[in-house]
Amino acid sequence: MTNDHTPGPRDGARLERREFLAWAAAVAGAGLVGGCAAPPARADEDPPAAPAGPPRYQPRDYGALRGLREITDEQVEVHLDLYRGYVRRTNALLDDVRALREAGRFDATYQELQRRLGWEWDGMRLHELYFDNLAPEAAPLTPDGRFARAVAGVWGSVEAWRAELLATARMPGVGWVVCARDPATGNLWNGWVEDHEKGHWAGGTPLLVLDIWEHAFSVYRKPTERARYLDDVLANVDWAAVERRLG
Ligand SMILES: [Fe+2]
Repeated sequence: MTNDHTPGPRDGARLERREFLAWAAAVAGAGLVGGCAAPPARADEDPPAAPAGPPRYQPRDYGALRGLREITDEQVEVHLDLYRGYVRRTNALLDDVRALREAGRFDATYQELQRRLGWEWDGMRLHELYFDNLAPEAAPLTPDGRFARAVAGVWGSVEAWRAELLATARMPGVGWVVCARDPATGNLWNGWVEDHEKGHWAGGTPLLVLDIWEHAFSVYRKPTERARYLDDVLANVDWAAVERRLG
């Protein structure tokens, strides 16, 4: 796909080659076309300005996400189809909101589209965080790893953290379980996100994201088997990916 709006490094002449490659990889990994990603800011620089042009998201390639434990390839493919729908609708909504804004129409239609955008965008991004923390050859959770030590510091043990995570994940309802970190204090918590857009702790960094919607397991498990799905999905978590989110 051509892209006339992909931003270049804000000051390419001053970026080292290593930094440029890291930035380019971040743009590719974010699946963004049209100016949502930006080069890294140095500590002594202002954050990069928002690029011009409408954002355009591309579905990420999860072709390698096959051969998971228990979770079937058919389940994954159906789930990825749903994810691609969120990406498509996010782009369409961004276009619609932009058109109304440029027309000076801030009426009820604009307001409802703005509300809907949170649902679609969060649905897109949460699915990416979920798929990104799964892998067919997942790195194990080791007791001396950074994540295990972090949760042990808050909950006392990995077992206590996991027990609360599962208790949260078994709550009746539709949504997500997120183990997140407060970058201001380093505190961690297990939180519930209702639907896609309700219940986020503002500013928290998601470390582990689990999809608790029935569509995450309805292809290969019964609706009453959420607990079995939770065992399945935890067996496929790539703890190296989770630890990278610790920064
Ligand atoms: Fe999902």
